[in-house]
Amino acid sequence: MDKNAQPQKLAYIKTFGCQMNFHDSDIIAELLRQADFSIVEKADDADTIIFNTCTVRDHAENKFYSELGRYSKSGKKIVVAGCLSQIEGRGLMRRAPFVHAVVGPQYIYEIPSIIDAGKVVLTGDNPEFYLNSQPSVGKLSASVNIMYGCSRFCSYCIVPYTRGKEVSRKPEDIYNEINGIAQAGAREIILLGQNVNAYRYEETDFAALLKMVAKIPGISRIKFLSPNPASMTDRQIREIGSIPKCVPHIHLPLQSGSDRILKLMKRGYNSKTYMKKVEKIENYIKDAILTTDIIVGFPTETEDDFRQTLKIVGDVGFFNSFMFCYSKRRGTEASLMESQVDTELSKERLARLMEFQEKITAKKLTKYKGRIVSVFVDKRKKGGFSGRTRQDIVVNIESDKELFGKFVPIEIYEISKHTLKGREIA
Ligand code: 5AD
Ligand code: SF4
Repeated sequence: MDKNAQPQKLAYIKTFGCQMNFHDSDIIAELLRQADFSIVEKADDADTIIFNTCTVRDHAENKFYSELGRYSKSGKKIVVAGCLSQIEGRGLMRRAPFVHAVVGPQYIYEIPSIIDAGKVVLTGDNPEFYLNSQPSVGKLSASVNIMYGCSRFCSYCIVPYTRGKEVSRKPEDIYNEINGIAQAGAREIILLGQNVNAYRYEETDFAALLKMVAKIPGISRIKFLSPNPASMTDRQIREIGSIPKCVPHIHLPLQSGSDRILKLMKRGYNSKTYMKKVEKIENYIKDAILTTDIIVGFPTETEDDFRQTLKIVGDVGFFNSFMFCYSKRRGTEASLMESQVDTELSKERLARLMEFQEKITAKKLTKYKGRIVSVFVDKRKKGGFSGRTRQDIVVNIESDKELFGKFVPIEIYEISKHTLKGREIA
């Protein structure tokens, strides 16, 4: 039968949340293409809409619900995937009866087959999930899951309930996937895991895995997201520093600078042990920059606790921080704690922290003026390109030459709020 004669199936994917969700959406897109769907850029052009949801904070959840509401009478097939589906399950379909399917993170491989199957709810643990793999081919910078889930149960966090327990993938499977991606043209690999440096499969730990990945021909840069300070050993830091392909950017989520709050959060480190790790990173990883995640307004946080966070942010001098107001998540230990901090007070602390971080970022970026840095050019932009330095700082480049996909020496001549502007050196 002539394939062109069949009506075209058009899907639109809207993603909320973290890198894992964006990577899952890439996988969903590839699976749908294999099932004869075309992926379109606008929801209005699609007959099927996939929402890949996030529930780490109420903000992401609210954004999704308000968007979902717009399609209640659209007649389009609506699939809700991701973390919120896992938590809400059937309840989501009761709340929005026009939804066709609710699919948790461990059932993404089933999406193409359930779109036409009537009302479906697939959530919970799926042992078969770990046997699947769908490499992101055709990308210069490609993400690869090395582990799934999280078993740490930090007291504020919903992730262990949405993504399931920590499971590391077989090193051979990871090797083969990256090898294939590299042969298809990828130059940069981002190793993903909720707790990425806790990776362990039998005798292979995270450091051993990095060494293995570094041997794959074609890969020039290796990144990983997000490590956990509690799992970051001295040996691991030394090994990262000894692998030239590992980028010298460590995202090390601090969450709070107060030892009392860190204990309530169940983070497994205190301000002193965190600072020791920072020192080791600076000693062993040449030109390392650090970024972090911080939560303000955790239950019982006082002005004094908050000041300790400000202090550590200043002492470390993070290049950048992702800063959030604490958001009460149902089912978590912290949601039961008394003395939840007033929302306005949390917002005020967040604003103070952001202002402080902005000053630090500006100071750090200024130092790049006049420097020559190696930039991996991975995006086309109007009038030129953008890319990233080895430390993962975005550089915008005006040029009419073909720089896409190349590693180019760039001279920095202007500093913006979070990015740099540069030109090729003559
Ligand atoms: N409230 C606010 N921020 C949170 N995060 C995780 N859970 C919550 C919550 N309940 C933040 C943490 C984590 C990042 C991915 O999201 O800082 O590192
Ligand atoms: Fe959440 Fe803690 Fe696991 Fe990170 S380590 S995903 S903050 S429970």
